[in-house]
Amino acid sequence: MSNSQNSLHTVSVIGTGAYLPEKVVTNDDLAKVVDTNDEWIFSRTGMRERRIAREDQATSDLAAEAAKAALRDAGVSADEVDLLIVATLSPDMFFPSTACFVQEKIGAKNAYCYDLGAACSGSLFAIETAKNQIACGVVKTALVIGAEKMSTFLNWEDRGTCVLFGDGAGSVVLQATGAEHGIMKGTFGSDGSMAHLLQTPGGGSRNPMTHEMLNRKEQYLTMGGRDVYKHAVKQMTQSVQDALELNSLTSDEIKCFVAHQANARIIEAIGMRLDVMDRMFMNVEKYANTSAAALMIAVDEVVKSGDVKQGDLILLVAFGGGFTWGATVVEWTKGTA
Ligand code: UT7
Repeated sequence: MSNSQNSLHTVSVIGTGAYLPEKVVTNDDLAKVVDTNDEWIFSRTGMRERRIAREDQATSDLAAEAAKAALRDAGVSADEVDLLIVATLSPDMFFPSTACFVQEKIGAKNAYCYDLGAACSGSLFAIETAKNQIACGVVKTALVIGAEKMSTFLNWEDRGTCVLFGDGAGSVVLQATGAEHGIMKGTFGSDGSMAHLLQTPGGGSRNPMTHEMLNRKEQYLTMGGRDVYKHAVKQMTQSVQDALELNSLTSDEIKCFVAHQANARIIEAIGMRLDVMDRMFMNVEKYANTSAAALMIAVDEVVKSGDVKQGDLILLVAFGGGFTWGATVVEWTKGTA
């Protein structure tokens, strides 16, 4: 586990944006595809519906829409972006990076661009990476995007996984500001011994794309649901406590807790353990689990809801394949840039 150091410059989120594909797929719609029902899905996950991208939309198309919305919100033009990171586990291609496709789509011609792979924790890791580059003076403006077209990587014959995920993208713009705290210290960790519990086993160098591999359907996401659930609750609860301690804060000082939107039961378990259920944000009912996009979409909804005022503290916490996890406290400073 590593903890981030004090920033040289205070770095803030100066704009947020999100994009959700238009097509809504309800639990009842899924019951026509696999042997499932609304009662099972809702009672175990809190999900009612999810968005599914069009066939002609790739992850970079979703990402570009979220990025444009975040840049508009920040009042920053695309050519001012110095660093563009896309967190995703469903890239357009293995290479070049989805970030390079987004650069071309939005006209961020002065940015250097790369993807970051940390599954559902990806956008939190990307925020930390971008923050530190701004704090050290490497770049001035960073665009961080979490984007997923999960629907392409799901086995639509496996009811245990296909009902749990959705497509979407969210984005934040970061710059140094005169704010007091901005993005505060974060705590991050990984445990590769748990990699087998949540993965896409086929298609890479370990298990290349062959007819046999495709027949075994190993190009799709697999998950040990119960184990993932237990680790997600334990680790996200611990990460929240670590982030509070690192910043000498108590939970009472946090306006809103934004956890990775994997499952309402997971979010409720964390909220109950920490006695902060009244401030746990949730939108998993509408979008299901959008992996690296989930935290970014949630942040956009939280700040646009009007409930968060300048100076309020938001705690972001994530958990995902790898395993990977982390938590960061963000002082909402929009308006002080
Ligand atoms: O971003 C992080 C990634 N993912 C997560 O955080 C997910 C973590 N895990 C979970 O949220 C839960 O483990 C699930 C919601 C995935 C599953 O809930 P569960 O209570 O652990 O169910 P289960 O997998 O143990 O399955 C229980 C039963 C099984 O039937 P039998 O063997 O008991 O007869 C499954 O076959 O439910 C059955 N089942 C379904 N039934 C109806 C599994 N999927 C479905 C389905 N509809 N979609």
